[in-house]
Amino acid sequence: MSSKSRKKVLLMGKSGSGKTSMRAIIFKSQLAADTRRLGATIDVESSQIKFLGGLRLDLWDCGGQDSFMDSHLTAQSSTVFRSVHSLIYIFDAESPELLTSDTAYFLKCLRTLRDQNPPSTSSSGSSGEDGGPTVFVLLHKMDLVPVDMQASKLAEFEAEVTKKARESGYQGGLQFYGTSIWNETLYKAWSIVMSHLMPSLSSLRTHLSHFLSLSSASEVVLFERTTFLVISSVTNEQEVHDTEWDERRFERISTMVKAFKLGCSKIRSPFSSLVVSTQHYTAVLDSLTPETYILVIARGEIQPAAIELNIRLARPHFG
Ligand code: GTP
Repeated sequence: MSSKSRKKVLLMGKSGSGKTSMRAIIFKSQLAADTRRLGATIDVESSQIKFLGGLRLDLWDCGGQDSFMDSHLTAQSSTVFRSVHSLIYIFDAESPELLTSDTAYFLKCLRTLRDQNPPSTSSSGSSGEDGGPTVFVLLHKMDLVPVDMQASKLAEFEAEVTKKARESGYQGGLQFYGTSIWNETLYKAWSIVMSHLMPSLSSLRTHLSHFLSLSSASEVVLFERTTFLVISSVTNEQEVHDTEWDERRFERISTMVKAFKLGCSKIRSPFSSLVVSTQHYTAVLDSLTPETYILVIARGEIQPAAIELNIRLARPHFG
C-alpha cells in the first residue's frame, strides 16, 4: 500500500487527558458515559482503520503515563515518531499543570517529531504548513470549564502555547480546537482532522455541488459510514443569507445519528436510512457508497421519494 493512502497519526497527551475516550467514541461507537470505565493505555495501542477511498489510517494511541511518555521520547522515538503524517496532541483543560509541565511535554514531542521528520525530507505525504507533519492541538474536557470562559480560555491557551513553541524553535503550524466528549465539539475537530487526511476532497465537492443544484436541495452533507464524521458539505449560498443556520448543525447531526444507530443495533435492527419531513423542509439520510451516507435537505414541497430517487441515480457517480 502506498504511503499516500496509508497515514500514520499519533494521539498523544498526558495520562487521563482523554485520548482513548476519543478513539472509543469516534472509531468504536462507544457512548461517552462508558469511557469512565477505560483503563490506562499501556505503551502504545495502534489500530488500523479503513477509511474512504482506500485510505488506511494507522492510529497510534500513545499511553500518557510519565514512564511511557519518557520512553516514546527517548528509546522508542524513531519507532513512534518516524513517518508521521499528523500529530493530535490532547491537553486536559482542567489540568493544574496545563501551561507548565503539560506544555513542556508537548514541546518535547514537537521537537522529537521535527527531528524524526525533517520538513525537507519528509516522505510521509504530510502537509503541515512548512511541509512537516500537521499538528492538531485539542484543549479537551472543555465541558469542565464554565461556558462563558471557554472561548477566552482557548484563546489564551493558543496564544501561550504558540509563543512557547516559537521560542523553542518550532516554526510549523499548530491548529487549536476546544473539545469535549459530552458534546458535538469532538466531531467538529475530528471531522477537520479527517478531511485533512483525505486526498481528492475537491473532486468530491464538485460532485456534491452538481448534486445540490440538480436536485434543488438547500444543503447536501456527506458522512463517513462508521465514524459518522463529516467529510464534505455544500450549501445553497442564497439560503445561507436568507436563513439563520446553526453553525454546529453537522456535528449535532453526527452525534444524534450515531446515538440512534447505536440504539438500532442494540435491538438488532440495523440502521439503513432516515426521512424527516415537516411543513418547511424534508431531510433524507441514505447510503451513498459502501463507505458513506449522504444527507439531503430540501425546503418547500419536495417529496422524500424524489430525493431518494435522486440519491439512487447519483450512486454510480460517487461509487
Ligand atoms: P492514558 O491511557 O493513561 O494515556 O489516558 P487517556 O488520555 O487515554 O485517558 P482516557 O481516555 O482513559 O480518559 C480518562 C478519563 O477522562 C475517563 O474517565 C474519561 O471518561 C474522562 N474524559 C475523557 N474525555 C472527557 C471529556 O471531554 N470531559 C470529561 N469531563 N471527562 C472526559
